Amino acid sequence: MARKRSDHANPFVYARALAPEEAIERADEVRLLLERAAGGHAMTVYAARRMGKTSLLKQLRAAAEGKKMPSVLIDLSDVLSVADVAVRLEQAYRALPGRLARVVGRELGGLGFTTPLGGFTFQRRGEASDPVATVHSLLEVPARIAERSGQRVLVILDEFQALIDLQGLDGVFRSHLQHQAQVSYVFCGSEPSLLRALFEDRARPLYGQAQQLRLGRIAFEAAHDFVAARFSQTGKDSGAATPELVHLSELHPQRLMLLAHFLWEQVRDEPATISDLRLAYDSAMRAVDLELRYLWDGLSANERRVLAAVASGLSPYQAEARAMAGLASASSAQRAAQALLDRAILERDEAEALHILDPLLARWVRRHGGARLSVYVVPGPSGTFVVTDGPSLAFTRSEHSTLEEAQTEADRIAASDRGADVMIYDTDDPNDLPDWALGERALEG
Ligand SMILES: Nc1ncnc2c1ncn2[C@@H]1O[C@H](COP(=O)(O)OP(=O)(O)OP(=O)(O)O)[C@@H](O)[C@H]1O
Ligand SMILES: [Mg+2]
Repeated sequence: MARKRSDHANPFVYARALAPEEAIERADEVRLLLERAAGGHAMTVYAARRMGKTSLLKQLRAAAEGKKMPSVLIDLSDVLSVADVAVRLEQAYRALPGRLARVVGRELGGLGFTTPLGGFTFQRRGEASDPVATVHSLLEVPARIAERSGQRVLVILDEFQALIDLQGLDGVFRSHLQHQAQVSYVFCGSEPSLLRALFEDRARPLYGQAQQLRLGRIAFEAAHDFVAARFSQTGKDSGAATPELVHLSELHPQRLMLLAHFLWEQVRDEPATISDLRLAYDSAMRAVDLELRYLWDGLSANERRVLAAVASGLSPYQAEARAMAGLASASSAQRAAQALLDRAILERDEAEALHILDPLLARWVRRHGGARLSVYVVPGPSGTFVVTDGPSLAFTRSEHSTLEEAQTEADRIAASDRGADVMIYDTDDPNDLPDWALGERALEG
């Protein structure tokens, strides 16, 4: 029986890690990680916050299961103490299914654990509790599982950088890494600089112990097809807005899902249009406003200046950018940029130029953070001219019947926005227009 559209839940989830069936497949990454694991190599996976690490790890587990490789996923986010790490390990083991749970039960029973969930009573029988010794014992459990099941075991540690301040724990992990031939490790972290410190600092025990995988953005095609398919599976049509939506997300997984979520809310029976996308984009910006404001308020003055320069399309090291943003010197710009790179708020693109990782933050800084806007005049539908304050028709501010009117409006916006660049495209030739300005015409051609 056909379901009514209203029965469908919004298929675009943006606030938690996704189960494999909810997500775009990260096939290449999963294949690589699985191959390395099967070969007994440890891997680190690093990426900024919300780039889809935990969702990838879930896909990895599903794939490992398909290869009959038992896996444990240990979430170390915000661990505060060694005892806390022990709790996380124990919880992860206890979540194992069926037969493995029995192995785990026996092993943990032998260690004298008494708390099924979250307690802090890690007493080995008859001994005073030593949390480091407890973690050692718990890290032996995967090897026991491997022995008893005759299968290689995959141990996945999410938010591993949380260990950095726990004295000596990376040494504890190293000792197990080295002696367990049948256990493979994946270490995942969202503070790339901290994770790197654990594995790239010669003075630390895990130095050189794992190969690295940087989790990047989603591929354009995959994102496009996913959005279109999920709309149609839920009785809607993302229509002409699909490529523009993907373009606006800059292939940032969480931003893609956030924008798709609001576009899905926006449309009903008709295919989505660029106007729907505009409204959806505004809803998304409202949804993240508090979060971005909070991030902005937490930055130093120089970090804000560097972000404003980058959002204006300038290198913060250029004299022009320093003057515009009020940076005192090249070295202060450099220090602030490095801090932003370390926190993965900025990244370097292929040409080594600085780039704001989150497209919505970039837009926010243009609106509220003193960055310079770019105002465009491009031909609109049926002989009109459209003024946008960014490189997308989703950023349309107004539509005019003549070029003169549109130019006047663009100049007005530029003047009120502390000096914007104004770019006029007074041509109808698709070859002379930027891709984004082709809008629905791109699909006709
Ligand atoms: N493969 C994917 N396909 C579609 N969307 C994804 C995918 N991976 C991540 N996302 C989107 O990004 C959001 C965050 O994903 P996830 O929690 O996996 O990221 P994370 O890097 O682990 O984040 P955090 O740093 O907060 O732990 C998800 O809610 C989803 O909207
Ligand atoms: Mg995560």
